[in-house]
Amino acid sequence: MIIRNSGITVDRFHQLMKLWGEARQNYAAKQDHTSEVAKEYLRIGGHAETGHIVRVAEKNGLFGGGDLFWHSNESGDIAFTPGVALLGHQNMTKSATGFMVTTPYYYSLSESMRSELDEMVLIHNFKEGMINANGENNVVYQNMCPEPETEIPLVIQSPAGIKGLHFPYNTVSRSNNDRLLAEVKKGLEKYTYDYWWMNDDDLLIFDNSIVQHRRVGETKDRLCYRYQFDYTYLQYRVAGKPYMPYLQEPYKSRYREKMKQIAKVFPVYGYK
Ligand SMILES: [Fe+2]
Repeated sequence: MIIRNSGITVDRFHQLMKLWGEARQNYAAKQDHTSEVAKEYLRIGGHAETGHIVRVAEKNGLFGGGDLFWHSNESGDIAFTPGVALLGHQNMTKSATGFMVTTPYYYSLSESMRSELDEMVLIHNFKEGMINANGENNVVYQNMCPEPETEIPLVIQSPAGIKGLHFPYNTVSRSNNDRLLAEVKKGLEKYTYDYWWMNDDDLLIFDNSIVQHRRVGETKDRLCYRYQFDYTYLQYRVAGKPYMPYLQEPYKSRYREKMKQIAKVFPVYGYK
């Protein structure tokens, strides 16, 4: 969703987004992060008092400068946070935020192909250099996949119950059918859209479960703010129960286990 010329400040952004859902940052819910990672998280603005809103910028921000490859946030975490909002602030209009939507691709396939995809499980690992085109690596990126060799099904559902692919290029190492996965990657190429920011204060709100995103263009003195969140309230309006991305065991149980841990630090309805 793109809201042009939002005209809002970062404080207002926080108030508004809280109505959509609670802030979540799985990294910050972990008790055992090293001081190096904790310091870095604070440096980019992450803190409970700011609603875990972080700066996305070259200086004192997450990601540094240059293009960012296709990725999802917390992508190799079985309990990834499903929503992201970006509020532009300055020098946004020479850059684009791109989206790769997987649902129309999935439904363009034959029923037999879809049931093959339904059976696929991807193995995720954190790997250096999978997001920043300039090779930069931020220690906070390790939250992209906290547990090595994490298994996550390819086909999942979004918070609104829409089926699609959780296929983030930044953490997928392999699958139980790499030939088919390469075919899927090829097929997804045309389901992309780059939004070239029209105004510095545009507001983008997007799915992080079955959609990947990227950044292209110029980033000199560019600054935007990121709020990562559960669709807590919309979720309850639509489904009346907590988000469950998975359609099969043992992933449903693993997800619930992890959410209970996260809910000790972040309020997540239904997991207290
Ligand atoms: Fe991102």
